[in-house]
Amino acid sequence: MKIVLVGYMASGKSTVGRLLASHLQMEFIDLDDYIEANQKKSIKNIFSEKGEIFFRKLEHQMLKEVLEKEESIIISTGGGTPCYGTNMATILEQADASIYLDLSIPNLVNRISKEKVNRPLVKNIPDSELPEFIGKHLFERRPYYLQSKHILDCNDKDVETVVDEIKELL
Ligand code: S3P
Repeated sequence: MKIVLVGYMASGKSTVGRLLASHLQMEFIDLDDYIEANQKKSIKNIFSEKGEIFFRKLEHQMLKEVLEKEESIIISTGGGTPCYGTNMATILEQADASIYLDLSIPNLVNRISKEKVNRPLVKNIPDSELPEFIGKHLFERRPYYLQSKHILDCNDKDVETVVDEIKELL
């Protein structure tokens, strides 16, 4: 059994995934951590030393590798994972459930402004420009996220509530 969490940066995929995995007694894999372990490098350094295209190819390979594992796993993806190449089709084909953690632009702006440093795509964007950047970026990415089997409104909900609501969806 594979459950895949998708959503924009800072939407809580890793935190929710880890707690959900412990509730369901399943293994948890954070795709970014998996990529970092494979490369023995941080995402930040992969981007700066090898560039985004290298990262996207690696992300694609690692996603396939994780989805082919035998075990029951909760997988949290990176914010861009479903939006490149055939990744969303692969998720829909191979995962038993995909869940989009949906958050509003103001809530994403609020979270990302506090967590920019390790996120290469937003780290150099001044806070004053974040609403426009995230608004445009989400406009491009949301059509991919919305293909998920389940769409969960996560606005104004704490992690425990989100996890309980996912358990009801499954
Ligand atoms: C990215 C999101 C990041 C990470 C990389 C690229 C993106 O993951 O994969 O920096 O394209 O949105 P998080 O969603 O965990 O921040």
